[in-house]
Amino acid sequence: MNLDSRWLGLSLPNPIVAGASPLSASVDRCRRLEDEGIAALVMHSLFMEQIAREEAALAALDAHRHAHPEASSYLAEPIDFALGPDEYLEQVRKLKTALSVPVIGSLNGTATGQWTHHAKLIEDAGADGLELNMYYLPLGGEPPAEVEQRHLEVLEAVRSELSIPVAVKLNFFFTSPVYMAKRLASTGASGLVFFNRLFHPHLDVTELEVRPDLELRRRSSLSLRLLWVAAAFGNVDADLAVSGGVVDSEDVLRCLMAGANCVQMTSALLSKGPGHVRDTLFQLRQWMEENEYESVEQMRGSLSVARSPDPEAYERANYMRTLNTWEPGGAWYTG
Ligand SMILES: Cc1cc2nc3c(=O)[nH]c(=O)nc-3n(C[C@H](O)[C@H](O)[C@H](O)COP(=O)(O)O)c2cc1C
Repeated sequence: MNLDSRWLGLSLPNPIVAGASPLSASVDRCRRLEDEGIAALVMHSLFMEQIAREEAALAALDAHRHAHPEASSYLAEPIDFALGPDEYLEQVRKLKTALSVPVIGSLNGTATGQWTHHAKLIEDAGADGLELNMYYLPLGGEPPAEVEQRHLEVLEAVRSELSIPVAVKLNFFFTSPVYMAKRLASTGASGLVFFNRLFHPHLDVTELEVRPDLELRRRSSLSLRLLWVAAAFGNVDADLAVSGGVVDSEDVLRCLMAGANCVQMTSALLSKGPGHVRDTLFQLRQWMEENEYESVEQMRGSLSVARSPDPEAYERANYMRTLNTWEPGGAWYTG
């Protein structure tokens, strides 16, 4: 049974990657994931805002030092993330020393600027690849072309500094996601992750406030990813990954058959622990054996839009059929 897979041109022993999360803040936890069979690890993000804040603090320190040479321990603002920019680089080094699976750094930002230089620092610290997350919500109604152009410019700025491969974690709300995926690939993305997870705020109608809502394991989010990976397969010159709603071996199979090279699991690992990787791999192998598949590559894309035996199932005709064939269930409706 051959589970060999590829992500960003890197060879992986299987298609299950640990998605970006606080798991990467602990070398021990990552080692346990590796022991259970994880194929690669994406670190949690280093944010543009963290880098900018630290640079502003250092500039303030410098100005202050010239004015008051004794005040060398002054920092303008405390940084409230678990790992600041320097600690992040140190963590890349530690993970690279402790693990043999590829370690992918993650940079998170939305516009070009000094912060993109940290891509090079992450590479120099030993990362095998970089995931670029441009979490951005055009809440003010910005024209789509401007949003898209900014994505390409940030990617170009990061790409120009690096020799390691870069993945882009895509937002799902582009007007034409496959077109955007193609443009990112031709701008130098070696991999595309479908999709970034949006943390929808919770609207509390009693307290009249908007609160962040972080619910783990929204399995329902998988179908949106499957659709767009299935459409991108064969159309985009980059490796494809699914992030969002991948929980068990059947989900992994769906992603592979839609056309993904690998899956990124996050919530399932956070809630079920490292043993879940071993269980999922065991079930994956078992299913492949029972269904006479010899390799992951053999099944990849078999249910994509390009290769599916019934491509119409993805199209408008099927949408109309689905609406038309709905069977009423409630007695009040039929009676
Ligand atoms: C607690 C938590 C922290 C996360 N931190 C990051 C992060 O730093 N950078 C990032 O790109 N994604 C981050 N994510 C998003 C995950 O990598 C993933 O895309 C998302 O959770 C969907 O996958 P899942 O359904 O398997 O959880 C985080 C998710 C969770 C739950």
